[in-house]
Amino acid sequence: MNGGFDLERARRETRGCAQRIHFNNAGASLPPAPVADALYLYLREEEEQGGYEVMARRAAELDNFYAASARLLNCSAAEIAFSDSATRAWNAAFYAFDFKPGDRILAGSAEYGSSLVALLHRAKRRGVEIVWVPDDEHGQIDVTALGELIDGRTRLICLTHVPSGSGLVNPAAAVGEVAKSAGVPFLLDACQALGQLPVDVEQIGCDLLCGTGRKFLRAPRGTGLLYVRSTLLEQLEPNQLNHYAAELVTVERYRMRSDARRFECWERSCAGQLALGVAIDYALGWGLQPVSERIGQLANTLRRELADIDGVTVADPGLQKCGIVTFHAAQVPAEQLQQQLAARQINSSVVPFSANPVSAARRRQPPLLRASLHYYNTSEEIERFVAALRQLL
Ligand SMILES: Cc1ncc(COP(=O)(O)O)c(C=O)c1O
Repeated sequence: MNGGFDLERARRETRGCAQRIHFNNAGASLPPAPVADALYLYLREEEEQGGYEVMARRAAELDNFYAASARLLNCSAAEIAFSDSATRAWNAAFYAFDFKPGDRILAGSAEYGSSLVALLHRAKRRGVEIVWVPDDEHGQIDVTALGELIDGRTRLICLTHVPSGSGLVNPAAAVGEVAKSAGVPFLLDACQALGQLPVDVEQIGCDLLCGTGRKFLRAPRGTGLLYVRSTLLEQLEPNQLNHYAAELVTVERYRMRSDARRFECWERSCAGQLALGVAIDYALGWGLQPVSERIGQLANTLRRELADIDGVTVADPGLQKCGIVTFHAAQVPAEQLQQQLAARQINSSVVPFSANPVSAARRRQPPLLRASLHYYNTSEEIERFVAALRQLL
């Protein structure tokens, strides 16, 4: 036990952590054994029994993905769609809006690069205006400015809860309050938040949310989810339809599904969907509050230790910070450090410009090294990471 947290169990059930220090959880976490085993077993059964046959026999377990996601987010299972990535989920939600020339979209500076491309695409093709909400003095979205920017043309508010390239946690619930009182739909990118923070769509007040499986939820790659609030669902028609999203009534008529699965296709990785459900239940078993507290303590320790190294600058903005720790060193570029750490079996990553380009352009920092921690990481690993870094510098 470690401050009430069963670290011994967390590490025993994380086979990958025996081989290396994995501080790249914001890239992809090491899946726990129960999740990885569920995936392997399902694939083995497909190999031996046939994909359609296994799908029919294990329908209830596949369906558990929706119920588990609903428990995770505090919504109904009918408001959840399976996706193969956060990008696909975000795009499905975003492109469902029938934007007209002159419509305004308000977005925070932490938006992911892919979302920026989609926003620019809609600006080019539909003539929408993208308005970047300023940051406040702490580097998080300025909620007062957001409220002042909303006008009669505002059709959507986009916010990234936790950006890819810093430890910032944006005040999502405060944004939700502003969006709700103005009656503007609110699309939350919770890709880096799911699995490391409690995320409750009622408490936050978002209408749409996207997430990925492989990051802090510890699910396999190629899995993700979309949440669509039921009241908005009725008004949103997917940009593309298919025979799963809509039932063919006759050869001349279709009827769209009434639930969020109108954003899905029939074909998918069933093994991935099942394993994402297992991963969500596994995360809920630990409890997102204890998980976020443990991650927060580890990350604060790392930030303190880094700040003590000559030439190192910790770069995480925001009043609330999470398990993503970003920094740069005056002596050695981030890319070189990342490679040298990798040679010592220490996984970290360099923040690419596309992670959160708008804030990166505003902040104009040198390339950052990102050490992203999960609850199965340890204080001892932090000591070894810091010792290796001191040696390299
Ligand atoms: C904040 C954020 N949003 C969206 C994405 C895209 O997720 P995916 O790669 O699953 O599409 C990422 C990926 O790094 C991310 O960090």
